[in-house]
Amino acid sequence: MGVLEGKAAFVTGGGRGIGRGHCLHLARQGAAVVVNDLDPEAAAAVVEEIDQDGGRAVSNSSDISTREGARSLVEQCVSEFGAVHAVVNNAGNVQDRSFLKMTDDEFMSVVRVHQCGTFMCSQEAALRMRDQASGGAIVNTVSAAHFGNFGQTNYAGSKGAIASMTYTWALELARYGIRVNAISPSGTTRMSATYKGPDGKDIELPFIDPTQNGAAVAFLCSEHAVGISGQIFGTGNDRIAILEHPAYGTAIHREGGWSTEELAEKFDGYLKARLEPIGIMKSPYPFHDGVRPPGN
Ligand SMILES: NC(=O)c1ccc[n+]([C@@H]2O[C@H](COP(=O)([O-])OP(=O)(O)OC[C@H]3O[C@@H](n4cnc5c(N)ncnc54)[C@H](O)[C@@H]3O)[C@@H](O)[C@H]2O)c1
Repeated sequence: MGVLEGKAAFVTGGGRGIGRGHCLHLARQGAAVVVNDLDPEAAAAVVEEIDQDGGRAVSNSSDISTREGARSLVEQCVSEFGAVHAVVNNAGNVQDRSFLKMTDDEFMSVVRVHQCGTFMCSQEAALRMRDQASGGAIVNTVSAAHFGNFGQTNYAGSKGAIASMTYTWALELARYGIRVNAISPSGTTRMSATYKGPDGKDIELPFIDPTQNGAAVAFLCSEHAVGISGQIFGTGNDRIAILEHPAYGTAIHREGGWSTEELAEKFDGYLKARLEPIGIMKSPYPFHDGVRPPGN
C-alpha cells in the first residue's frame, strides 16, 4: 500500500517534463491525481499512463495563471475525488531576455504563470483544506535561478518570490495543519533545453531524468513529512539537498550607528573581503576590481 492511499492531489503543468514525474509518483503511492496542463493532449497522455499502471487520474486543461483556472482545478479535484489533500505547483514557462531588452509582456507572462499561478492555486486549495479540516500539503517549485541568472529577470524574480511565499505560508497555514514546502528540481525537459550559461551563451547539459523529483514530492505530501514545513529541497539528479534560507551573515556593529565615512573605512578593511558570491554558479565575488562605466 502506498503512502498516499485515500488522498487527492493535483499537479499543475503535469503533462510533461518534471510535472509528469510528480503525477506518476503520486499515483503510484495511491493518490488520486488531477493532471493539469494547458496542453490537453499531454495531460491526457499522463492520465492514460497512470490508468495503465493501475492508478486513478483525470485530466484538466485550465490555465492556472488565472483565478478561474485555479478555482476550476480545485473544484474538479473535489468533484472527482471528494477533497484536496495535496497541491503541487509545478507549471512553468520561460521568456528569457537580458534585463535592458525585456518587455513588459515578457516579464508579466512569466510572473503570471509562476508567481501568480502558485499564489492562486495555493489559495484556492488552502481555503478548501481549511474548510475540510483535513490539513494538507502544498509543494511549490523554485529554481536555483533565483540566486540570480543571466537573462532571467522574470523567471529568477518569480522563483525568489515563490521561495518567500513558501516561508510565509508555512507560518500562516500551520494552524490548519497545512504544510508548505518547495523543491528546486532538476531534469532534462523542454524548458531545460533553453538554459544558457552564466555568460548568456548556450550550454550542453548532460541528461538528467526529470521524473526522479517526483519521489521527493510524494514524500513531502505524505505523513512521513508531518514535521516538515517552510523548507526547500534541491531534488533530482540522484540527490536531495536542503536549500539554506537567506540569512544575515557577517555583521559589524557600532553603538549609535555608522557614519558614511566610518563605514567606508571599515568596509574596505573588513567587509569587502567577505562579500557574497552571486548567481546560479556561485563563483567567488566577481567584482573586486570595481564595476565602472566603460572606458574607466
Ligand atoms: N527542468 C529543470 O531543470 C528545472 C530546473 C529548475 C526548476 N524547474 C521548474 O520545474 C517546473 C517544471 O518545468 P519543466 O522543466 O518540466 O518544464 P516543461 O516546459 O517541460 O513543462 C512545464 C509544463 O507546464 C505547462 N504549463 C505552462 N503554463 C501553464 C499554465 N498557465 N497552466 C497550466 N499548465 C501550464 C506546460 O504546458 C508544460 O507542460 C517549472 O516550474 C520550472 O520552472 C525546472
